[in-house]
Amino acid sequence: MSSTAELEHTPEIALATKPVYELLKSVIPEFEWPIHAPYVEAINRLKAERNAVILAHNYMTPEIFHGVADIVGDSLALARKASETDADVIVLAGVHFMAETAKLLSPEKTVLMPDMKAGCSLASSITAKDIQLLREKYPGVPVVTYVNTSAEVKAESDICCTSGNAVKIVESLGVDRVICLPDQYLARYIGSQTDVEVIYWEGSCEVHERFTGKELRDYRTQFKDIVIVAHPECPEDVLNEADFVGSTAHMINYVGDAQPGRVLLVTECSMSDNVAIEHPNVEFIRPCNLCPHMKLITLPKILDSLTNMSPKIEVDSSVAERARVAVERMLAFS
Ligand code: 13P
Ligand code: SF4
Repeated sequence: MSSTAELEHTPEIALATKPVYELLKSVIPEFEWPIHAPYVEAINRLKAERNAVILAHNYMTPEIFHGVADIVGDSLALARKASETDADVIVLAGVHFMAETAKLLSPEKTVLMPDMKAGCSLASSITAKDIQLLREKYPGVPVVTYVNTSAEVKAESDICCTSGNAVKIVESLGVDRVICLPDQYLARYIGSQTDVEVIYWEGSCEVHERFTGKELRDYRTQFKDIVIVAHPECPEDVLNEADFVGSTAHMINYVGDAQPGRVLLVTECSMSDNVAIEHPNVEFIRPCNLCPHMKLITLPKILDSLTNMSPKIEVDSSVAERARVAVERMLAFS
């Protein structure tokens, strides 16, 4: 069974989804809502029937983030919540490595990934074999692996980290040198925040590496009072221009606490929409760098995956056991 045919927008659906649209109306035009509303209603109904939860990353579009998600957050929060939920089914509205991490932590649950092609330039920049070669080159040096990696890569690692806990994880190991992979910019940022020597890999996020320091200086010239908040996957010259650097969750908390008059979130651009809804008094300047992988996840695909209970994430048990250890070490520490 497939639900890809366009669903009809009825007066009943308009009424049932009115409270959601009230929340979203500052970022979704009125003429667009009838396209989303039938999916929001159908997904929320089916979710309850299936005892499913939708975990959504902060980069999902607002109709997903505010319309159907049960749990939202950064990679760390999604990993943590995946291990805590009582639901039978997890739908991961994010990218493939996030769904794999959810499956590692909840092997008994059905984990659905609405589009298996939703990958990540960081995850595809490194293989398990690369780590084995690094271990030969740097014997005894622990490998700290960003969660934006495949289960096979996690399985070769000592411990995982996210951008929200990376510095603390590195320092917790009590060593002079670590290998941090695969994001070169995150690794360099970690190196700038600690005395531990950080060996890095040449991977990068195709979204964050597009920002430039010059672009941010131009924004500062145009808007004197702008507060710049950046993700540590950005290049060093970008981070040098930022007033605050942190994971997507830390960026959101920073805006909530500081309530700047005008802010620029140097990250994937759907996040500004999602956060702007919650802070109507803050003006968001929005350069729009989209993640093509995150944007593969749509309401119709979420409905399809819940309807058909597929595609399901499976991780080979020999890989899963070792990968789970690296993720659980991180969670135990956090
Ligand atoms: P966080 O949400 O963990 O900061 O990660 C950002 C990201 O690029 C995820 O793909
Ligand atoms: Fe990967 Fe970057 Fe997209 Fe996140 S934003 S999924 S790190 S490519």
